[in-house]
Amino acid sequence: MYVSDCISANERGHLTIGSYDTVELAKKYGTPLYAYDENEIRKNLKEFKKSIDDEYGGNGLVVYASKAFCCKEMMRVCMQEGVGVDVVSGGELYTALSVDFPTENIVFHGNNKTYDELVMAVENNVGRVIVDNLTELETLNTIAAEKGVKIGIMLRIKPGIDAHTHSFIKTGQIDSKFGFALETGEALDAIKEAIAMSNVELRGLHCHIGSQIFDLDPFELAATVMLDLFKQVKDETGYELKELNLGGGFGIKYLKSDRPRAFSDYMRKVSAAVNSYSKDLGLECPFILIEPGRSVVGAAGITLYTVGCVKDIPDVRTYVSVDGGMGDNPRYALYQSAYEVICANKAGDKREWTVTVAGKCCESGDLIQEWTRLQPVEPGDILAVLSTGAYNYSMASNYNRIPRLPVIFVKNGKAREVIKRETYDQLIECDI
Ligand code: LLP
Repeated sequence: MYVSDCISANERGHLTIGSYDTVELAKKYGTPLYAYDENEIRKNLKEFKKSIDDEYGGNGLVVYASKAFCCKEMMRVCMQEGVGVDVVSGGELYTALSVDFPTENIVFHGNNKTYDELVMAVENNVGRVIVDNLTELETLNTIAAEKGVKIGIMLRIKPGIDAHTHSFIKTGQIDSKFGFALETGEALDAIKEAIAMSNVELRGLHCHIGSQIFDLDPFELAATVMLDLFKQVKDETGYELKELNLGGGFGIKYLKSDRPRAFSDYMRKVSAAVNSYSKDLGLECPFILIEPGRSVVGAAGITLYTVGCVKDIPDVRTYVSVDGGMGDNPRYALYQSAYEVICANKAGDKREWTVTVAGKCCESGDLIQEWTRLQPVEPGDILAVLSTGAYNYSMASNYNRIPRLPVIFVKNGKAREVIKRETYDQLIECDI
């Protein structure tokens, strides 16, 4: 009935997440808040992990892209589920280290890692630094040499594939700030340079072709393009790359009309190509890494707000203003992202209004959704925006000095805070 399996309605006509009444959640913790169904997150991680086992005989690693939603408890969940994490900054790495995440299973991304971040990666023996450019490669090798160690790396390659997604989040094509270009020979030169270095161990290559992709073909194509490069490296240098990281990007359902493919479909199709094409090329099937972010947490999370005022502008539109906005969800302002909005305390009623849901920030573009269908609402009603589990908390800001929202995990009828609501004191903590 709803875009996400973990969302339903109970006999009181209230929306539920993981069977927990969202109106009760709003009462207990106040609004606005983010809520996640922990079982849904774990189910998704298990499914990805199982497909690595089924399709690659366990010869691979699921690495959760923590940029989608990062906090200590999410890191612990990944650890408990036996998956690795992808971090993209010193801050995300620090969060992982703070819960003693096994560093062999940490993948460190970034197109412009700072010197201090690289030192942090080397000192903590991060399993794979995904090297983006030559400056980074050389700096990393020098840092590792100074410390007398060898650090595992993969090189990020732009396979030159158009994944037909929103242009802001398309990263595989040549005009991208991420990685080494294939077409220009830059990638091969960098690989040769890395092989010759004594303090980096080139474990393999990485590519990521975009985000919120529904089509399976670009993933399959990317995998074969990468294997061609494996073969070229072997032929020209004799060096056998052992690992292939295929990135993330699997689409989720934001609207009922969205048709994401099951993870298992993706895994089956891509693994068939990887297994058979590596055989054709005379290569050992590489160890496979995948980096799902959105597909792990996106549909497992929602945001709850309280309606403050309803402004009907005759013949123009009706604004329903809530107690959050672009500070906790900048994705509509940035990408015009679609969301389903539901009145949580009137979930059983018909959605017969067409409204614009606006936030409380001093900015006309502070909108959560325009021209969306909603139950008739009044001040005090609770609104739920669905599928906000990915890139909402993690992209939040303190614009207008509005404190960040708490994050609540629900599981088996119980709710617990995993991130507390920010306080006004915390807002001014760094001020001098
Ligand atoms: N691996 C790499 C190297 C990435 O750059 C990303 C996402 C992922 C994995 C995870 O992709 P996912 O499975 O979540 O699609 N802020 C945008 C999304 C930016 C994605 C950036 N990279 C949004 O809100 O839609």
